[in-house]
Amino acid sequence: MDLSIYPNVKLLDHPLLKHKITILRDKNTGTNEFRHVVKEIAVMEGYEALRDLPTEMVEIETPIEKTKQPMISGKKLCFVPILRAGLGMVDGMTELVPSAKVGHIGLYRDEVTHEPHEYYCKLPYDLAEREIYILDPMLATGGSAIDAITMLKKHGAKHMHFICIIAAPEGVKAYEEKFPEIPLYIGALDRELNKNAYICPGLGDAGDRIFGTVK
Ligand code: PRP
Ligand code: URA
Repeated sequence: MDLSIYPNVKLLDHPLLKHKITILRDKNTGTNEFRHVVKEIAVMEGYEALRDLPTEMVEIETPIEKTKQPMISGKKLCFVPILRAGLGMVDGMTELVPSAKVGHIGLYRDEVTHEPHEYYCKLPYDLAEREIYILDPMLATGGSAIDAITMLKKHGAKHMHFICIIAAPEGVKAYEEKFPEIPLYIGALDRELNKNAYICPGLGDAGDRIFGTVK
């Protein structure tokens, strides 16, 4: 897939990130390690996604002298995991910005139609003023991402970003057709979806692997 036609899609390519995604893909990686690595990946991807945060010069004193140096200015942030799997990325993001608010959107994919269904939504009241980072490890058909953004827009969200770990070309295309202006951060771009709309080679069901509910 040629991503150069999508200026707001950022495929991250740090070797540490690739290494950790390979650990997630391995079917022998157990729940404990899987959860831990998802959190580490969220820190790495979050670090990149937060690159444009504004800074302001503040006066401090080093042991040597007074100086004006940059600190993050009072930008209001909100992290929104898509339940369940997005929950695995929250701790990594709040490690980077402990003061961020956290909203929750609950969606599950119907096993037959693969359409997302909403079952939960709790968001900060001042969403419109916040820079929002939506978290979900998997972008498969793109249906869940598109529904989550649509819900957030209905609640007044204006400035959004979407962070996923693995994306399928089908999901990227659907997302870009709908929301080309909303930056999309991807850890790995995989080959395709299978007939059950799972990402190939992927990592299986992210929620099941994070929470240990694999059959
Ligand atoms: C997974 C994943 C995404 C969605 C992606 O969640 O975490 O939310 O599928 O698929 P899509 O791009 O085709 O919509 P799932 O619905 O399996 O729920 P879970 O996190 O509770 O397991
Ligand atoms: N959701 C997942 O958790 N994994 C996939 O491969 C597709 C959707």
